[in-house]
Amino acid sequence: MLTDKFASEITEILNRYPAERRRSAVMPLLYLAQSVYGHLSKEAIDEVGALTGVAPTDVAGVVGFYSLYHDHAAGKRRVQICTDLPCALRGADAWAAEFLTRLNLKKWDETTADGEFTVEHVMCIGACDKAPCFQVQDSTGIHFHESAPDRAMTVDEAVGILEGLKGK
Ligand code: FES
Repeated sequence: MLTDKFASEITEILNRYPAERRRSAVMPLLYLAQSVYGHLSKEAIDEVGALTGVAPTDVAGVVGFYSLYHDHAAGKRRVQICTDLPCALRGADAWAAEFLTRLNLKKWDETTADGEFTVEHVMCIGACDKAPCFQVQDSTGIHFHESAPDRAMTVDEAVGILEGLKGK
């Protein structure tokens, strides 16, 4: 339980907001929970809900909306490919299917055998006119990779980017 180990941090976060606006603490508490557990389990979501008086389904909705919150464990890096409609119209689904195959993954949210990469699909990451595009989240931050204005990034190029990250 978060409250067992991080009572003072939780109190500090809750005190940032008036009592009637406690739901405003959902996102910073989710951030705290994720930094502790690595991802947001159902138990963590329930706990944040209990702390803020927000229904767990609503807390889960926040987690699902933002690609920076994670409801499942992953490898060393999360590779997040946008398959939202504008990117899909530029071939992102087929591109992603080939990308998964190249990494020997059968479906979304699987992790490569070496534990390096978990591949996820996400909604818009703000590069709609440069699909295919993806972002890599790891301990150093978020790194965006997108197609050039006049040429789509190939799967070979994307796999090469990941190869270059291994061991770093
Ligand atoms: Fe894919 Fe916006 S829809 S980046």
